[in-house]
Amino acid sequence: MARTVLVSLGERSYEIQIGRNILYQLGEYLKKNPVTGTVGLVTDSTVGPLYADDIHSLLTAAGVKCVIHSMPAGEANKRLQRIEEICGTLLEGGLDRGSLLLALGGGVVGDVAGFAAACFMRGIPFLQIPTTVVAQVDSSVGGKTAVNHPRGKNTIGMFHQPCGVLIDMDLLKTLPTREICAGCAEIIKHGVIADSNLFAHMEQHAGLIREGDLSALEYPIARSCEIKAAVVAKDEHELGLRAILNYGHTFGHAIETASHYATFLHGEAVSLGMCAAAVLGAELGLVDADFVSRQRACLTAYSLPVYWPDLPVEEALAAMKKDKKARAGTLKFIVPTSLGTVVQRTDITDGQALRALASLKQ
Ligand SMILES: NC(=O)c1ccc[n+]([C@@H]2O[C@H](COP(=O)([O-])OP(=O)(O)OC[C@H]3O[C@@H](n4cnc5c(N)ncnc54)[C@H](O)[C@@H]3O)[C@@H](O)[C@H]2O)c1
Repeated sequence: MARTVLVSLGERSYEIQIGRNILYQLGEYLKKNPVTGTVGLVTDSTVGPLYADDIHSLLTAAGVKCVIHSMPAGEANKRLQRIEEICGTLLEGGLDRGSLLLALGGGVVGDVAGFAAACFMRGIPFLQIPTTVVAQVDSSVGGKTAVNHPRGKNTIGMFHQPCGVLIDMDLLKTLPTREICAGCAEIIKHGVIADSNLFAHMEQHAGLIREGDLSALEYPIARSCEIKAAVVAKDEHELGLRAILNYGHTFGHAIETASHYATFLHGEAVSLGMCAAAVLGAELGLVDADFVSRQRACLTAYSLPVYWPDLPVEEALAAMKKDKKARAGTLKFIVPTSLGTVVQRTDITDGQALRALASLKQ
């Protein structure tokens, strides 16, 4: 049976449906939410061959015409050129202002297709069908859409909420274990910022989750969606509270930059970032050494990196300072205060940030 989480945003509210094999209810979903004309389906070169034909058949059986656009997989394709290409397919397929776009894939497809939906005909509705753990617990919820510019990640984008999110956990059956574990970093993050029970579940079920037991992932995926939905409902445009979702990301982005996006998956960089943020919390006297080692042990149980001996500390600090410049001179650190609570700090000195980064080299 599917669980439902509501993202409460007034007239832009929408439901997240989470369950097993629920993709096959898509035809029913579209009958309940009638669409005009042709539906567009954006996917990537890995996910498309696995699932796009099934969806095409489902839609055809429901009497809905569908055009498929497959983009090359990977972060390098999160760029403006792909938006123009998607719009080209949608125009050729005869989509109009009333049409619906489906985003079938991981966070890259969700961000790119979401941005295309925000721009095409000045904005059309889109439905997220996330196929990675990162996308199911994080990127498909909350309406942040973007592509990268060579000078910065996610620098061209818009807030454009989806009209719904359909999370079929069985789509994770084909996802490599390393990608599953990278997504678990985001779930563990949700535990640290908002829910110690969720964190404990991730501690206790690491073995099952790594073996691909999807039933052990059902609660953490649903709970993560609830946590993200509650934060987004209070602060849609990240004017305050929503920044807590960036726990581990200030250090994590610097690590991604310093490793030239080649060494770590995003979730792996976030794992390192959370370790640095915890060390910072300990230096500030907000958490104790037990917290630091408990979080480290939980991340390690998912084979996530907690140390990076080759970390170029000065380069990472320089990346953070560049980020600071880009963010009107303030760099926000999300620092843990207990398991389940965090605080935002903008008063961290270079020395404190440097020591937190250096702790990852051990
Ligand atoms: N918008 C947001 O709020 C938000 C939040 C977090 C992350 N993001 C973005 O998400 C992106 C990372 O997302 P991701 O980790 O899902 O990466 P991704 O979309 O690149 O997917 C990872 C890889 O797995 C493949 N894949 C996807 N689903 C699969 C499946 N079911 N079976 C087999 N292979 C599959 C993809 O083709 C890709 O090669 C980044 O660009 C990040 O900036 C956005």
